[in-house]
Formats: sequence, C-alpha cells, structure tokens
Amino acid sequence: MSHMKAVKISDSVYWVGAIDWGLREFHGYATSRGSTYNAYLVMADKPTLVDTVKAPFKDEMMARIASVVDPVEIDTIVSNHAEMDHSGALPATIAEVKPSRVVASPMGLKALNAHFALECDITPVKTGDKLDLGGLTLSFIETRMLHWPDSMFSYLEEEDVLFSQDAFGMHLATADIFVDQNDISTVHWECEKYYANILMPYSNKVAALLADVDATGLSPKIVASDHGPIWRGKDIATALKWYAEWSEDAPSNKAVVIHDTMWGATAKMAAAICDGLKTGGAEVVSLPLASSSRSDVATEILGAGAVFLGSPTINNQMFPSLADTMTYLKGLKPKNLIGASFGAYGWSGEAVKQLNAILEEMKVELVSEGIRAFYVPTPEVLEECFALGEEVAGKLPKA
Ligand code: FEO
Repeated sequence: MSHMKAVKISDSVYWVGAIDWGLREFHGYATSRGSTYNAYLVMADKPTLVDTVKAPFKDEMMARIASVVDPVEIDTIVSNHAEMDHSGALPATIAEVKPSRVVASPMGLKALNAHFALECDITPVKTGDKLDLGGLTLSFIETRMLHWPDSMFSYLEEEDVLFSQDAFGMHLATADIFVDQNDISTVHWECEKYYANILMPYSNKVAALLADVDATGLSPKIVASDHGPIWRGKDIATALKWYAEWSEDAPSNKAVVIHDTMWGATAKMAAAICDGLKTGGAEVVSLPLASSSRSDVATEILGAGAVFLGSPTINNQMFPSLADTMTYLKGLKPKNLIGASFGAYGWSGEAVKQLNAILEEMKVELVSEGIRAFYVPTPEVLEECFALGEEVAGKLPKA
C-alpha cells in the first residue's frame, strides 16, 4: 500500500497532486522553494479528475487517487490548462484510466492535440457550459491568455470550488495543503513572484476577469489552483485583493536599480544612485545581477515606480547579464515606469546607449540621457549619480 495519500479539501473534492521539492528552475523562473503540481479528484457519481501533473510525477498522482478510488473508475478528465506541468501525465493517465470523456476549452483541444497523440477525442467546452458529473455539476469559464490561449477555470457549483489552474498559484513546495497552514509572508512573496513572472503581461485581462467573476456573483469557498497551497475562507478575499492591486500597474515610491559590474566601477555608481534615491525619500531595491535571478528582478519591478539599469561596456556591448534580464523583463511588459541608465567604460562605452534603447522600447520615460564613467567614477560623476537618484525620487508618488 502506498504512503501517498489524497487530501480532502471539500465534501467531494480531493487534492491528488505531486510535490516537487527539488525544483529550482522552471522555464527560466528561479523556483527557490520548489513547487507543486495540483490535480483534483471530484468524487461525483462519475469520478472526475481536474488536470494532471508533470509527466515524471504521474505515479505519485495515481497513488494519491488510488487512496480514494480505483483510478480506472475515473469517468471524466478535465484539462483546464495544456501546459505540460499539468498535461504531461495526461496521455499515460488516459491510457491507464480509459475515461469516457476528456474535456478542454476549444483552444485547449488544439493545444493538447498539438502536444500529444491522445488515445481519445477531446470534447470542447465553452464559457457557460455545464457538465453533469452525476450528482454534481462543473461549469466552465474560458480565461484566454491567463496565461495561455487554452486556459480556463472550472467551477464545482454545489460545493463552490473554483479550479483556477495557474491563476492564484505560486511555486511553493509544501506538505501543508492550505494557505492558512503556511507562513503568510512566504505566501505573499511567492504569489506575487508568480504573478510578476507569469501574469504581468496580461494584467488588463486579470482586471477584466476579476470584474467578470464579480458580475457572475460566484462566491467560491475554495480556490484550488494548479500550484502551491489552496485558498479557503477569508484568504480568498486576500488573494483577490492582491490580484486587484497587482493588476492595476500603479507606480509606487519604489525604485529598482538593476546592475552588474566588471571591476566595481558601475557598482559604485549604483551605490551613489541608491543613496540619492534614499535621501530623496524613495524605497530602494538594489539588484546586482551576479546574485539576483531574473525572476526576482521581475517580482521587484511589479508595482515599482522607477527603474535604473547599470552596465559596464564589454566588447562594445552591455554585460550579458543585463541582456538576459532585460530580454526577459521586456517580455513581461511592466508599465508606468520612469528610469535611466548608467555604466563605466574604457573605450567607446556603448552600454548606456543600448540600455536606453531597451528602456525606450519598454516605454519607460527616460529622465536622463544616462551617466557614463571613464574607467572609474570620479567624485564628480558619483555626485551626478547621487543627484539623479534624488531627482528621480522626487518624481515618484509619495509613500
Ligand atoms: Fe503551471 Fe502555465 O503552467
């Protein structure tokens, strides 16, 4: 008998997912606390599985299912999201369980068929469609581009359980299945990090979805996402409040200084800018890229008011770490930022110009043409950096 057990989360719903304690990298996202892949078993007359897990964790999911019901009894599989951390185990699960139906959104049907040669057809379901599970009812809400074209929510009407796939999720490996069993500051950071790295480009859609859900009058008692712990009770209002706040893209008093250095010159400029920002009353976050992951940079940028980019010039280019981080950040489309660039150089010093071009492409309002230091910043250059920090702090909303 397996030690892997399901965890009951409502009268008829069980968590049957997998815990990936060792995960430290997730398609470019530094997952310093691991993750979970959440799958859910709805014990209706027709037992139903909502999502699966990453392929290598299929046996863990099956063992948890088997602690409640023989997996071959599963009648229906719902795929809320086709990304492979939730669908990787789907082909093998279908082969083993032989369900009578597999449902997904119309875009999910296309995505799943592009990924896999499944042994059965997929039935498309649209917003407002309902599925009779025998005694219980699942309804569906398509959530296109949150964060893939196929993404959708499922709602178990009789027990007010919202299966929200990636939304409201976080990369946090934990054996404590509910949010209220975990440290709330850890939950806040990991949930914000997840939002910043996965959902930030779609903030306008998040805001629209929150309004839609409000208009439908849905009042979930449980929000069960596909990653990390499950929301219940008053914590649901907390999650909705955080999402409403993050989706606003409102600038704050925070300035983020992203930089790297060769021999310490650009780091000295960064320190002077930070001093100026602090003196001017801004909240300051300095992120040297030698010790800051791109996904932590994204988290700090969410809701910031200003961004500074600092890079030395190496072989006529910006430092590779800046190119990496800014390529990533550009794709996440942070909004409503002001900013400037700086850096040391020895020959021609192209990095500041290149960083300015990136900021302009990101629609960041430049407050300076940039500050360059020839080899090593002089006291005058450091004074200029300090003054720029102070000036930018004065332009930010007050805390
Ligand atoms: Fe957790 Fe978009 O997959």
